[in-house]
This record gives sequence, C-alpha cells and structure tokens, in this order.
Amino acid sequence: MDRSTPAGELRCEGIAKVYEDGKRALSSVSFAIPTRGIFALIGRNGAGKTTLTRILSTLLEPSSGRATIDGLDIMKDEPRLRERMAVVPQEGRAVPWMSPVQMITSYLLWRGMGYREARTKARKAVGLVGLGDHADKMNRRLSGGMKRKTMVAMVIASGADLIFLDEPSTGLDPISRKELWDLLVELGRERFLFITTHYLEEAEAIADRIGILNDGNLLASGTMDELRSMMRYDHVLRAPAGTDLPPVPGETMVGQDGHMQVMTDREGSMLLSRHLIERDVEFSVNQVTLDDIFYRLVGEELDSGAEGGEKD
Ligand SMILES: Nc1ncnc2c1ncn2[C@@H]1O[C@H](COP(=O)(O)OP(=O)(O)OP(=O)(O)O)[C@@H](O)[C@H]1O
Ligand SMILES: [Mg+2]
Repeated sequence: MDRSTPAGELRCEGIAKVYEDGKRALSSVSFAIPTRGIFALIGRNGAGKTTLTRILSTLLEPSSGRATIDGLDIMKDEPRLRERMAVVPQEGRAVPWMSPVQMITSYLLWRGMGYREARTKARKAVGLVGLGDHADKMNRRLSGGMKRKTMVAMVIASGADLIFLDEPSTGLDPISRKELWDLLVELGRERFLFITTHYLEEAEAIADRIGILNDGNLLASGTMDELRSMMRYDHVLRAPAGTDLPPVPGETMVGQDGHMQVMTDREGSMLLSRHLIERDVEFSVNQVTLDDIFYRLVGEELDSGAEGGEKD
C-alpha cells in the first residue's frame, strides 16, 4: 500500500479527540480532500466541528490519529504549516479598541512582516472587503457584519493559503452573509478554505466539498454530486397533503411545510410526475438538497440510537 501523502491534499486518518474530562469529541475521523477551493464542515451543536478545525489548524493535539496537509504532518511539521495558515476561531472577534487597519497591521507584524509592508497590505485588504470608508474607525463602532469582514480582510492580508474559518457567517443578516459568501468564493479561487457552518444552504452554495459530522463521526464527505449519489433515493417530489399517489420505491413523509414529500429515484419521480400532470395537480420535483441529505443521515443516526448534539 502506498503510504505517501500526495501534495495538494488534506488527509485525515483516524483522528480522535478525548478531552481531559473524558469527553470524546471525535471518534475516528478519516477523509481526504484536495487543498483547493472551499471545504465546509456541517453538523449540529457539539458535533465536533470546532474540535476538528482546531486539530487540523495545529491549535489542538489529537488524542490519536494522523493528519497531513500537502504532505506536511500537523504534529511534526507544525512550524511550516503555521506559516501557511490563517485561522479565525469561532469566538474570533475584531479587537474593539483598534481600527481594522491597526488590527490587521498588528497581526501581520506578529506574523513577522515589516511595518511598512504590513501597513500597506492591511489597508489594501480592508479596501478589498469593501471597508475602505471604515478603515480607520474603531472596530467597536462597526456593525457585526463589518467586523466579520475585518476578520476576512485579516486572512487575505496574511497571504496564507490554508485558511480556517470557524462559523464565519453566524449572526449575519442575509445580505451581509451573501456579501461574505462572495468574498469567500473569491478567496477560494486561489487558496484553500476550511469553514464550518450551521447554514446548510451556505455550504451548498459556496462549498466545493462538504463534510457532515455528527457526534464525533464523519458521516459523509464529498462534492454535492458525490453526497447525492450516496442517497438511494435522490429525487424529492412535493405535492399537496393527501394527494393520492401510485406506489413507487422510496419513502413518503410530511414535509416541514405540511406538504407531502416523496423521496424516490429518478424513475419513481417521472412516474409520479406523469400521474400528477394527468390529474392537473400542482407539484414540484427536485434533486435532493443538502438539507434532505443532512436530515436523512443525521436522522438515521438518531433513530439508530446513536447520540447526537450537545450533551453534558
Ligand atoms: N475544552 C473542552 N473540554 C471538554 N469538552 C469539550 C471541550 N471543548 C469542546 N468540548 C465538547 O466536545 C464536543 C464537541 O465540541 P465542539 O466545540 O467541537 O462542537 P461544535 O460542532 O463546534 O459545536 P458548535 O456548533 O456548538 O460550535 C461537545 O460535546 C463539547 O461540549
Ligand atoms: Mg463550534
């Protein structure tokens, strides 16, 4: 077996984490993804997203397992990886008594850059995220969305090509979130972004690859197409409650909106579509979304008695 780790890949082999109090946050997480574009890790509160993010960004030691990024070992090659990394933790907030330019300049100085270069890069990055008019205002006078953009400006200015952002869009209004998405997508064109999020539509919209974590286990990881192909029934047909339908392979349930929801395969969805068109019943049919996949996979875990979510 080839044990070498090809460059251009993040590879995780059996990463587990048990905290000092005995809490097992990660069981044995294994996956491999290319280090380009955006990888989004999703999962419920307490699923282990922050723990995995901190381990891969070398801030926390795993209890067991191994991980490499572009062939560099997170334990043995930490200094070399750190030079290439920028990390914004879940609780990472703009320093209130500094302006965006001051804060980013300080960060770059701390990373070892000279003052002049740091100052120029900071100002440029602040402009790039659309905060040019607020570059010298104290962060405490900026809105939550502007503060988040300041944090993104910081990782842009760092020049790091391995970027870890734990819940970058939490608490943002829909427009600010969309603006942030555009920035992240732009950033993901040239660098590798590892993000966590609770917004499934965000992961679906901006991520090239998605990992679903539940109770310390990675249930699935891959592109949307790969995740869809894991589903036996990859089409969802929605029709008014109580609609009479012929039997097809798959499952019928009541959706959150009270509509009848049939998860079936392509043939099943075509058969149902013909049936409903003939009877002039309004319906919609789509490929499964990340929502459908998430609820299915995490729901199965809960049904099978595995515990999930935050617990003491
Ligand atoms: N320092 C710690 N000591 C003990 N247990 C911890 C510690 N940090 C996290 N945990 C526990 O490990 C589990 C995973 O936590 P983690 O913060 O990784 O989850 P998360 O997916 O990021 O959750 P959230 O979506 O709420 O941010 C949780 O049960 C949490 O209570
Ligand atoms: Mg977290």
